[in-house]
Amino acid sequence: MCGIVGVLAEKNAASMAFAALKRLEYRGYDSWGVAFKGGKSIEVLKKTGKLPESFSFQAGSGTALAHTRWATHGKVTEANAHPHLSNDKTIAVVHNGIIENHEELKHFLEGKGFSFNSETDTEIIPNLIQLFMGEGQSFKEAVRLSLKKIDGSYAVVAMHAGERELVAARNGSPLVIGLGKHSIFAASDVPAFLDHAKKVVYLNDFEMALLGKKAEFFDVLTGKQLEKDVEEVNWSIEQAQKGEFPHFMLKELNEQRFTIKKAVQQPKGIIEKVSSMIKNAKGVFFVGCGTSYHACVSSAYIFSHVAKMHVNVVLASEFRNYEEFLEKETLVIAVSQSGETADVLDAVKTAKKRSSKVVSIVNVMGSSLTRLSDETIMMNSGPEICVLSTKSYTSQLAILLLLAYVVAGKQVEGHELVEKAAALSQKVIDESSAPAKELAARLKNSRDFFLIGRDLAFPSALEGALKIKEVSYIHAEGFAGAELKHGTIALVEEGIPCIVFSTDQTRPLIMSNAQELKSRGAFIIGIDSKPNKLFDYFFRVEEVGNANPILMILPIQLLAYHLAVEKKLDPDKPRNLAKSVTVK
Ligand code: M6R
Repeated sequence: MCGIVGVLAEKNAASMAFAALKRLEYRGYDSWGVAFKGGKSIEVLKKTGKLPESFSFQAGSGTALAHTRWATHGKVTEANAHPHLSNDKTIAVVHNGIIENHEELKHFLEGKGFSFNSETDTEIIPNLIQLFMGEGQSFKEAVRLSLKKIDGSYAVVAMHAGERELVAARNGSPLVIGLGKHSIFAASDVPAFLDHAKKVVYLNDFEMALLGKKAEFFDVLTGKQLEKDVEEVNWSIEQAQKGEFPHFMLKELNEQRFTIKKAVQQPKGIIEKVSSMIKNAKGVFFVGCGTSYHACVSSAYIFSHVAKMHVNVVLASEFRNYEEFLEKETLVIAVSQSGETADVLDAVKTAKKRSSKVVSIVNVMGSSLTRLSDETIMMNSGPEICVLSTKSYTSQLAILLLLAYVVAGKQVEGHELVEKAAALSQKVIDESSAPAKELAARLKNSRDFFLIGRDLAFPSALEGALKIKEVSYIHAEGFAGAELKHGTIALVEEGIPCIVFSTDQTRPLIMSNAQELKSRGAFIIGIDSKPNKLFDYFFRVEEVGNANPILMILPIQLLAYHLAVEKKLDPDKPRNLAKSVTVK
């Protein structure tokens, strides 16, 4: 859940670490810190709150570490911010993950005379390294032995005041090594170093890297040296920058003009292969969290309508309850932008334990999920930096829609439908932008929003509500059209904004639900291809049948964005959230 960086560079390592950290800010923004060499000692700078736009470091050649925190252990204070130092101040560590046996290790170290300055579990690590070095171990070996003592998850980078090397390791939390011409990086995610390195090495669990004049790799458990593949990333630095847009959310939302189409431009054979796995499976489960879960809910309707097939949709965090129904022939399809969501990885591990097959639909290349899956369909959306999922959602919908059509033997029809939606997305975004801004100014002080949709538009109501809540902090709830009157309609009062997703197929019934709301004074915002006298406000969204969910969410993404801007909130970094939720 945190962002970590280690840099080894000829000069300006501290500034480079800060710049890299800035690109990982979406991973956590409660507090931050940088450690760098100041002569023979390690200087540490820590601050609470978000990272400033820039920061100048007087020194810092050789090695530097940086960390942006999303608090798990201990409050948001400077003392709890990383990097953490050993008692003798010669070793600094940044860490993402959770050390489950930290209490036990803390008592062990206290027994050896160590003291602690923070409430974090991380502070254990530099002190264990100090202990092992005191017993005569090399820096690299001391890190390895320390990690062997840890139960739980970690991505760790350690530096030593007297060494020109960094040691990085992972188990359960993401870490990638970037190999540049004049620098080497270890970071939670590739965008951190895209301006310096495109050659990468993805670490697997229990692997470590010794970064010096070159990068060497070792097994944490055995110490044995490993041969690792160097891969080339195809993301550009421009994709990881805001460019002319004020926020990543607006940039990424606008990119849907291209990303929806790109999502279905897949390498030859993969869609066919996965669709035949779906056809031949004895039970199919779609799992995901948050927005990705909403894409899964959509897929249940799509598979039912198009492929005439029942699929199970389960929140990844609840999937373990289904373990006994998993067999060798069961197929689990894990949907995740980051490929690092802990609950999704846990669900996949449950499936693997039962020898079920796993297919993932992922955006981030080299992520943990890709390495746990039998087959992976890449979303091709490019880096999604804003904490809110926008373009990744419509890419997921496009891929799931295509899969259902291929399962039904209607590949050409599926492609045509996605391409039609992709072409219309430009029009919907352009035509909705100004009205969404105007509507946001009018509704920014609302206390609640209710959203309703039936059939395929029901998951759109769920996703629309999530978008509004997480970015504007206005309470919003999505319902299947008929459900609101089973209780929640008691909350509807004069002027309350209610968003109604309507399609050719659902119009008669959803309008009667809209009428029920209107009769109680609701302010009705229609998302439809046709105007209606019930609508107080109207976003026109062309009818594209089974691809409707791809287009219907666009005006609400825009509305959510403008609500945040109107409320002077940062849409890219909503409070309490982080882009990748790497804790269960
Ligand atoms: O990376 P993932 O798709 O697995 O992430 C799952 C959720 O954490 C994510 O969709 C979250 O709900 C977003 N903030 C929604 O905008």
